[in-house]
Amino acid sequence: MSNIYRRPALAAQMAQQLLKPGVLDEGLRSGLFLSGLRRTGKTTFLLNDLIPALEDAGALVIYVDLWSDTQTSPAALVLAAVRKSLAELQTPASSMLQRLKRVGGVDVAALGFKFGFKLDNLGLKGGPTLAQALTEVVDQAKTDVVLIVDEVQHAITSDDGNQMLLAIKSARDAVNPRPGTQGHFIFIGTGSHRALVSELTARRNQAFAGANSLPYPVLGTDYVQHLLTRLVQEGAQHLPSPAVTNQAFATLGNRPEELLKALRQLNRHLPPGGNPDEHLPVIAETLRSTAADIDLMKVEQLGSLATAIFERIAATDGDARGLFSAEAAADYTKTVGRTVRVEETQPVVNELLAANLIMRRGHGMYGITDPFVQEIWREKKALEGEG
Ligand SMILES: Nc1ncnc2c1ncn2[C@@H]1O[C@H](COP(=O)(O)OP(=O)(O)OP(=O)(O)O)[C@@H](O)[C@H]1O
Ligand SMILES: [Mg+2]
Repeated sequence: MSNIYRRPALAAQMAQQLLKPGVLDEGLRSGLFLSGLRRTGKTTFLLNDLIPALEDAGALVIYVDLWSDTQTSPAALVLAAVRKSLAELQTPASSMLQRLKRVGGVDVAALGFKFGFKLDNLGLKGGPTLAQALTEVVDQAKTDVVLIVDEVQHAITSDDGNQMLLAIKSARDAVNPRPGTQGHFIFIGTGSHRALVSELTARRNQAFAGANSLPYPVLGTDYVQHLLTRLVQEGAQHLPSPAVTNQAFATLGNRPEELLKALRQLNRHLPPGGNPDEHLPVIAETLRSTAADIDLMKVEQLGSLATAIFERIAATDGDARGLFSAEAAADYTKTVGRTVRVEETQPVVNELLAANLIMRRGHGMYGITDPFVQEIWREKKALEGEG
């Protein structure tokens, strides 16, 4: 059995809704955003389940991860991915073409696509727009093109990224409303920041106003069962019950790596005659509270002003504004215990941004990058308040 627990039925159902939507799902063609906490398996699900399901249904899938290279701009990463796929379509032996031919019976696939433009300057000045290029692809392939952008939230933090989202939107609007179009252009974005990803679809001025935002379906009891079965097959002893393991998985935010860590610790440290069902919950609680420690320690190392700024953001529901106001400076002064001048704030905010501990969510608006870290920080504050 493989290490990855696959969810083909769920993926096939999602692919069906996206590619052949019923009346109620038609809105999914406007774009779909999946949001889920960090390390819960979003990328794994896309690569192992959703992409194969979409391809099996005959779609042409282009995937790009905006977190794969934070040095390159989101727009450049997306264009590079599209260029690479289109280049494959021009190459008769490419696996993409072979699949199209096999699944869709597309005759042009035997020869390779002939585009009426050069790929080199796609999306750049003087070159074809994304909308033009994707319209040609849909028309030649006579099938759906799905663009998946993993960690799409990175795009809305820069002008360049926002331009890219608008270019994707105009591609959608160029392809889909044509009567008798032979395929559709479907955009899927994922992100770990639920509020931010929902915002992409809710804000009127965003490229994807009206698109759908859904929570990523986290791994559940069937995954836990699969894991326990594998452990039994490996001859593991002293395993916890499924119910207690499920509970521990929930405590750990449905993160497979954390559950594995907890089970490893249980295996190593269970005293002779100990009851796994009594020990696993304790281990899970401890792991949960240490999960955010690395990030919180980084904040502390940046100094007391950084800590004060981080705390102000973490204590805010939704966007934190006014970080550079006189009122905020007075607040920092109290926390830090010395006079903090307004102009001291910006460089420290920049350091927090560079360390990816906070993120800019729009003009003058900030949020904690990892919502899980924020949650743990709040739990710790609440405990301090009690103690
Ligand atoms: N279906 C699965 N079966 C087994 N392990 C899984 C599964 N999905 C995810 N994992 C494991 O969980 C970890 C996180 O997975 P992944 O990188 O896909 O999550 P993510 O939500 O995309 O994380 P990030 O927020 O870092 O982008 C990886 O170690 C991965 O192997
Ligand atoms: Mg990921």
